[in-house]
Amino acid sequence: MKKILVTGALGQIGSELVMRMRELYGRDNVIATDLRKPDNNSVVTSGPFETLDVTDYQSMLRIAKKHEIDTLVHLAALLSATAEAKPLLAWNINMGGLVNALEVARELKCKFFTPSSIGSFGPSTPKDNTPQDTIQRPTTMYGVNKVSGELLCNYYHTKFGVDTRGVRFPGLISYKVLPGGGTTDYAVDIYYEALKTGKYTSFIDKGTKMDMMYMPDAINAIINLLEADESKLKHRNAFNIAAMSFSPEEVASEIKKHMPKFELSYKVDPVRQNIANSWPNSMDSTCAKNEWGFKAEYDLAKMTTDMLEKLSAKGIGA
Ligand code: NAD
Ligand code: SER
Repeated sequence: MKKILVTGALGQIGSELVMRMRELYGRDNVIATDLRKPDNNSVVTSGPFETLDVTDYQSMLRIAKKHEIDTLVHLAALLSATAEAKPLLAWNINMGGLVNALEVARELKCKFFTPSSIGSFGPSTPKDNTPQDTIQRPTTMYGVNKVSGELLCNYYHTKFGVDTRGVRFPGLISYKVLPGGGTTDYAVDIYYEALKTGKYTSFIDKGTKMDMMYMPDAINAIINLLEADESKLKHRNAFNIAAMSFSPEEVASEIKKHMPKFELSYKVDPVRQNIANSWPNSMDSTCAKNEWGFKAEYDLAKMTTDMLEKLSAKGIGA
């Protein structure tokens, strides 16, 4: 990987991935792109940045050629709750953007990474220890996009030889950039509100378990899968990866170990609750471990300590 282009680079994942990749591969070798270009943003100021709408194929190709890229990391997408509110827009951005990115990768012979999600599963999928290869009949637009995307990435590999790779991310928890319209966002909000107000009203109901992961593990997973020996990859699009699985009351009780007065209440959002109910409780990541050595460093306790420390250091709740 000599020149890497990242789409959706100002989002929750891209903001951290770009900075880490610039440390590893050199600041001028990671070209960040997004719809918007805010001033004083470290992704914009720390290396090459281009404004790019991923539904505009000609602009994507022009930018990719200009920077002579050999790797494309495609992150731009609408997440589950936003996609459910705007399903046709989600189809156009999530599928239109993906096929454009795959076409650029095919034309310029790039290595390619795009994330799938726990959202690619549905209510008929086995909920516990969800296997790598199993039923995928999602009931959300986001899930339909993610399964279609997995299949499209496999197709570009078998038909055109594009080196496509992907993971099924759980809900991602981080302290640098807020999540952008997902169902698992409550698990980030809860830390902010714990520090700001000492209490949190969850839009996801008691007892609803979902897979989650702390951002440093997610960033390592992207880089390690991109660096993995291609000959060892039997699955490509996309690998189950998992770190922890918890419900709102379980994360609350972990926060209470640091903040004994913290209070959790519920005001369930039926749309996001339905989405959560259709997703697995916990995925089996054995294939990712065996094929490219995936390993998560953070469990719920270690992540909670770090989240509260890092958010406090940012002045949240001060
Ligand atoms: P995000 O919503 O935080 O960021 C997405 C970025 O894409 C934003 O900066 C937005 O400005 C940009 N964008 C939106 N429309 C665009 C367009 N038409 N052209 C160019 N840029 C556009 O998302 P994220 O959490 O960083 O997610 C990145 C990818 O990872 C997505 O494919 C998402 O489905 C997947 N994923 C995320 C999670 C998670 O918990 N964050 C979990 C599973 C999978
Ligand atoms: N965190 C993402 C969402 O909730 C999962 O793909 O949409």
